[in-house]
Amino acid sequence: MRMVDLIEKKRDGFELSTEEIQHIVTGYTAGDIPDYQMSAFLMAIYFKNMTDRERADLTLAMAGSGDQIDLSAIDGIKVDKHSTGGVGDTTTLVLGPLVAACGVPVAKMSGRGLGHTGGTIDKLEAIEGFHVELSTEEFIKQVNDIKLAVIGQSGNLTPADKKLYALRDVTATVNSIPLIASSIMSKKIAAGADAIVLDVKTGEGAFMKTAEDAKELAHAMVGIGNATGRKTMAIISDMSQPLGFAIGNALEVKEAIETLQGNGPEDLTELCLVLGSQMVVVGGKAETLEEARGMLEEVIANGKALEIMKQFIENQGGNPAIVDDVNLLPQAKYVNEVPSEEEGYISFMEADEIGTAAMVLGAGRATKESEIDLAVGIVLKKKVGDFVKKGESIATIYSNTEELAECMKMIYNSIEYTSEPVEKTPLISALIT
Ligand code: URA
Ligand code: CA
Repeated sequence: MRMVDLIEKKRDGFELSTEEIQHIVTGYTAGDIPDYQMSAFLMAIYFKNMTDRERADLTLAMAGSGDQIDLSAIDGIKVDKHSTGGVGDTTTLVLGPLVAACGVPVAKMSGRGLGHTGGTIDKLEAIEGFHVELSTEEFIKQVNDIKLAVIGQSGNLTPADKKLYALRDVTATVNSIPLIASSIMSKKIAAGADAIVLDVKTGEGAFMKTAEDAKELAHAMVGIGNATGRKTMAIISDMSQPLGFAIGNALEVKEAIETLQGNGPEDLTELCLVLGSQMVVVGGKAETLEEARGMLEEVIANGKALEIMKQFIENQGGNPAIVDDVNLLPQAKYVNEVPSEEEGYISFMEADEIGTAAMVLGAGRATKESEIDLAVGIVLKKKVGDFVKKGESIATIYSNTEELAECMKMIYNSIEYTSEPVEKTPLISALIT
């Protein structure tokens, strides 16, 4: 097979065979196909798209390009959840214990955050003593015992995707539905998922700026999941403003605990119930989304989800007492309010900008090497649609520095006001099943 012929075939809009796609992915990962040919091939995909069959083949070829985690020793259907990235998105910390309490095994591999998007691993490390380095045996045993374990990324997962993503970044081919969908799905499959639930974010703070693009991506991923034998569902959710109130590691752990106690922010709670319902259904523990939602509400009300959170923390070396006393979490030295400079209804609150304001305090990493401060962050007091008087606090800043000018300026810049009541954007705009 000559790469030039395969590029030509895609350029002219023909469908590649399974063997041809496998050949390209293997050859590129091994370094036998040079970047310049792969660049041309990616651009051909960008313009000519891929059929459903080609997308599934590309996903499986990338999933098979490195280590694949074998979770077959865990009883039940292993369900993974993926979010396309948001600000203050604490759903994983809530969903893990929540669906585990309904009997769905959660064997999750998570990452650290970069930029204004927080990582689940960083958040968990805000719990004193918590560690994410478990051996495969310990990981499997813990999921079989309490239905929940979270570990950091290890091993050589999807090297083809790593290399391709770096190349796409510099060849203007990131923004292609078949390439994004196969990239995300290959990582979930390599991590051992039997079933997958996807939260595709839309809005100013998200990768997909419009609801139509987000919907197309969600359909593409659900298509790949079903074609590769992994039951997959998705939702489209709004990320034009941060999720919940808290942005920052320890602050988000506190918010997750409150949500598991039934006292969480309305939007975070609703998102967790909707995603959790899909996880319980694809995990085979309920027939319908309504039935699943009832089960989730019950494990919040009877404390079972919170109990699993405690066991999970204790099993991974953390202090479970933080669940009953959130003041045991790292505390920031300074607590300051952000008084509103205007009066009116909040019509817009840019998620990206607020995420960056929290990052400036040290809650996120500006570069991969940055150290993060687990105690600091921002807790919003107002969200889109709320009325604010001049001088009233719109947010609380938790910091370890008295230098707040830059952070305050970013918060002010992120917010727009109107004099008329505003209609809120719906949190969830589509369910794809
Ligand atoms: N996230 C991914 O993992 N891959 C993409 O291609 C885009 C976003
Ligand atoms: Ca939050």
